[in-house]
Amino acid sequence: MTKIKYELVPCEEQEPNEIKKPLNCIVKILFVVLSLFTLVIYTLSGANNSLKSNADPFSPWKSMRLPLGWTNNPGDLSSPLDAKHTTRSLSTAKQTESTEATYSKVTDTESTTEDQAEITLYALEENGKKYFVNSPQCQMSHPNPFASNIQHIYNKHSYIVCDKSRDMITVNYNVTDSTYRLHKNENSSCCFKQILRAGTSANADHKYKLGPCVEFQQDFLVPTEVSAMITYCRRPPFDKVSQKDAFSFVHPRKDQIKNPTTLHRRPSVLLWGIDSISRMNLELTMPRMFEYLNNQHWFELQGYNKMGDNTFPNLMAVLTGFNKTYANARCHPEKVRGLDACPFIWKDFKDKGYTTAFAEDWSKFSTFDYSSRGFFNPPTDVYGRPLVLAVEKELKTFQRGQMPYCLGRKPASRTLDKNGIMDNTIIIFFSDHGTRFGPLRNLDSGFVEERLPFIYIRVPRWIREKYPKQLRNLQMNKNRLTSPYDIHATLRHILELDTPKDKLPRPDGCSSCHSVFEEVDWSRNCSQAGIEEHWCACNSFSDVPTTDPSARSMSTQLVEAINKYVASKKGTERCSRLKLNRISSVQRRGSSNRYLIQLKAQPGDALFEATVDWDASAQRIPAQMPSISRLDTYAAKSRCSSVKETKKYCIC
Ligand SMILES: *[C@@H]1O[C@H](CO)[C@@H](O)[C@H](O)[C@H]1NC(C)=O
Ligand SMILES: *[C@@H]1O[C@H](CO)[C@@H](O)[C@H](O)[C@H]1NC(C)=O
Ligand SMILES: *[C@@H]1O[C@H](CO)[C@@H](O)[C@H](O)[C@H]1NC(C)=O
Ligand SMILES: *[C@@H]1O[C@H](CO)[C@@H](O)[C@H](O)[C@H]1NC(C)=O
Repeated sequence: MTKIKYELVPCEEQEPNEIKKPLNCIVKILFVVLSLFTLVIYTLSGANNSLKSNADPFSPWKSMRLPLGWTNNPGDLSSPLDAKHTTRSLSTAKQTESTEATYSKVTDTESTTEDQAEITLYALEENGKKYFVNSPQCQMSHPNPFASNIQHIYNKHSYIVCDKSRDMITVNYNVTDSTYRLHKNENSSCCFKQILRAGTSANADHKYKLGPCVEFQQDFLVPTEVSAMITYCRRPPFDKVSQKDAFSFVHPRKDQIKNPTTLHRRPSVLLWGIDSISRMNLELTMPRMFEYLNNQHWFELQGYNKMGDNTFPNLMAVLTGFNKTYANARCHPEKVRGLDACPFIWKDFKDKGYTTAFAEDWSKFSTFDYSSRGFFNPPTDVYGRPLVLAVEKELKTFQRGQMPYCLGRKPASRTLDKNGIMDNTIIIFFSDHGTRFGPLRNLDSGFVEERLPFIYIRVPRWIREKYPKQLRNLQMNKNRLTSPYDIHATLRHILELDTPKDKLPRPDGCSSCHSVFEEVDWSRNCSQAGIEEHWCACNSFSDVPTTDPSARSMSTQLVEAINKYVASKKGTERCSRLKLNRISSVQRRGSSNRYLIQLKAQPGDALFEATVDWDASAQRIPAQMPSISRLDTYAAKSRCSSVKETKKYCIC
């Protein structure tokens, strides 16, 4: 509230087609979390309070600033660093200063003459054009996120406070014994209902149940079997519920409490994702977050390129290291129990003694439940889905732009609380891809917008000090080409930081990908990063006239390929046969036989972008379906198709 006067919301509502997810936590011990996407992030907070109840609810923008310590400071925004120092406790501020010193030392020893030579030859800004990556193998342009045609797409909206009333309950976390207590902030009578999973078989991920309402006294100790609850508090005369709230808790595993020394010096890991936010869009729509990330110990990977179209392939690459085909073949998301057997990275963390958690904030579009069967058994020690299902149903919700905005008393996005979590947690704050369709995607900058999600990595001080070489590599990789497979390799690396690099496991879907704590080859190309040509943002294109006979021919064949593909799937009987309406553009990639085509098809003015290989002698594109982006908003037009894979091409 205080400072957020407005937020940027796209004028055209986006199809709520992608997800958002939130974060999780760990405790003093560890945890792995994974969360994902879009503007809504839900709950679980870190070591400390979970679905934290805050006196003031924050927008995603504001909440993301929480780790900074700016939380309750209504003071001046223009000078965030000062604000930080005034709100932080002395000891934290001190620690921050010394870590900053370490960091700049690392920077100083960094620049070898070789790097400087590179910088001279391939500057990130050349002839007025900016690049995220600029090497002979990859020129990835860096469009201006504040261009007027982009800003036109956004309107300023006022920030909405979900619930102005004061929290009746605060969760207090005790770091010493890793326990949670419910503190009543006023004279009230309160009870809680435990939230449990309740479905069976195909419904395992879709039902929850509530336990009986258990009355509790001041500073009630939360039992370790309770990982999520809804609370009901009554003020005198206690005749009606005055406030409902929801909380979740990550309790450390019991075996860890008994033997904490075995976990000595392992960092917690938090993957915190927001769906559909590009690097450009982060800068435009979350300016304060952007400023925070760039002023603190966050390492950015500006050349981070998605490897597949939407959430599922990109997240699977991070979590399993598999490509999309193999992820589907091996993990069977369409089968009950299929995903349970999938070798997600959190299982490796669990084997090493970590407490694990996974949560998303919008049940309908959860990565593993949207058109998939979800998990039969909870995939992690703490699983956020029952909580979200319960909150969506039991508490008041408020939607905006067809997306959940307030869940209960709080914005759907949640706070990552400080309380020392960052001292021992590697945080990967990232997105799966940029805006995939709609007006933003139709601009010239849309090509890059779609392909380059943002990613920032924060490493705790003790690791920065213990592994200076790795940190130097990470810093070096800022403007190199990287992919979700590298993040998978990085997670594996975190499990064994002392293992020499040639002994570290490589992702199944990309054997040349590796941890970002190792230097990424400056001259890497997309295929070496496991990125298929179509999704590759390295773009040295030359225009081909749309009137060129081969341009026409490839376009017609492309539309035919789409028709064939759709017709080959069951459940698509009501999809129209598409016809080429207009070729918007054709571009050749370098001197290859690859072409990027944008075209409009009828009915429905469907806008497609595809990469095709052109066999000039045969005058043919390959028989198999090329990778295709759908640039206009299509959810409403594709309702008659029940097949997930064909929705993008189906016009009812
Ligand atoms: C935290 O737990 C420890 C161990 O049980 C106890 O001694 C200490 O008083 C607790 N701290 C707070 C603030 O309650
Ligand atoms: C709480 O309110 C009730 C009803 O008004 C009153 O009887 C009781 O004394 C109050 N308790 C405290 C601790 O103030
Ligand atoms: C995907 O991965 C599998 C298993 O590693 C491999 O056999 C297959 O060729 C890969 N497919 C693509 C399209 O890269
Ligand atoms: C990428 O680089 C490798 C190694 O230099 C090379 O074999 C491959 O052909 C390149 N791929 C593309 C698409 O340029």
